[in-house]
Amino acid sequence: MDRIPALESLAPELQKGLDQASSFEALEALRIEFLGRKGRLADIMSTLPNLPPEERPKLGQRANVVKEEMNRLFDEKKAALTAAREAASLARFDASLPGRAPWKGSLHPDTLIMEEICSIFGRLGFDIAQGPEVEIDHYNFESLNMPPEHPARDMQDTLYITDSILMRTHTSPVQVRTMLKEKPPLAVVVPGKVYRRDSDLTHTPMFHQVEGLMVGHGITMAHLRGLLTAFVRGVFGPRTEVRFRQSFFPFTEPSAEVDISCFLCGGAGHTDGETCRVCKGTGWVEILGCGMVDPAVFEAVQYPADVSGFAFGLGVERIAMLKYGIGDLRMFFENDLRFLTQFSY
Ligand code: DAH
Repeated sequence: MDRIPALESLAPELQKGLDQASSFEALEALRIEFLGRKGRLADIMSTLPNLPPEERPKLGQRANVVKEEMNRLFDEKKAALTAAREAASLARFDASLPGRAPWKGSLHPDTLIMEEICSIFGRLGFDIAQGPEVEIDHYNFESLNMPPEHPARDMQDTLYITDSILMRTHTSPVQVRTMLKEKPPLAVVVPGKVYRRDSDLTHTPMFHQVEGLMVGHGITMAHLRGLLTAFVRGVFGPRTEVRFRQSFFPFTEPSAEVDISCFLCGGAGHTDGETCRVCKGTGWVEILGCGMVDPAVFEAVQYPADVSGFAFGLGVERIAMLKYGIGDLRMFFENDLRFLTQFSY
């Protein structure tokens, strides 16, 4: 005997099964049934040792031929199924559908406003200066005319690291750092983060300021007013007016708070007969603090007595809220992409 009927019927039976298989799962089931470790071919091979020794080699060879034939049938069917699957997915492919735009980041409103402020002052001849966020008491307070126990320190809820090291409460210490490094005349703006122990609807423990400083000979409050007018018109539009209100800061004398005419109602105090929601009917919006550098500050940096200069400080989030009509300060720091992606560059 040189043939075993069961062996000979394997390939034709497999072919029948393959003809009916329409999925990769069915294909795999057939492979296990016919060629698996405990499949039908293996079953027949396990009877080989029972045959007379002279028949074994021939049958062994025949079994190999059948196995190869079955593998070929599988490969053919697999290729056919793969081709059919690709054809089906191509049939669903619509080359005329609009594409999906790739994800594009956007700049944070704080970054946008700081860049805008720095670029306006840059065009007016100001350099950009920076300083550390972890600051020493001396630069943050003392050299700015706020000695220990000075009541003005209460205006700023300080986060202390040690008795003399703190998180800077404003960008004003960079005034002092700049003057210690450079001789007058100079003009700088200082964008950066500041920290205060404050957290509620309108205060966050970290926020951003831009400080400005100009020192030279013959610098007056008129220069300050002209410069700030140019600045607010750059940010809020050419018809914006400025108003100086007398105020107090320890490091400037005289000091002023600056209001701009309300950009929503144009200073009228109302829109469509309703009280203006931006200026609450006053026609003015407070925007920054400023003044002529106090002689005590010049003394702290050992500048000559004949120089004069002005300084100003503004809150970046405040400007962004006014400019973009943002009602809640916390939105700046909640990382909600629905909010952040509205500000493109
Ligand atoms: N440093 C002040 C603050 O954080 C802001 C400020 C006011 C800065 C007047 C100045 C200035 O340079 O002249 O509240």
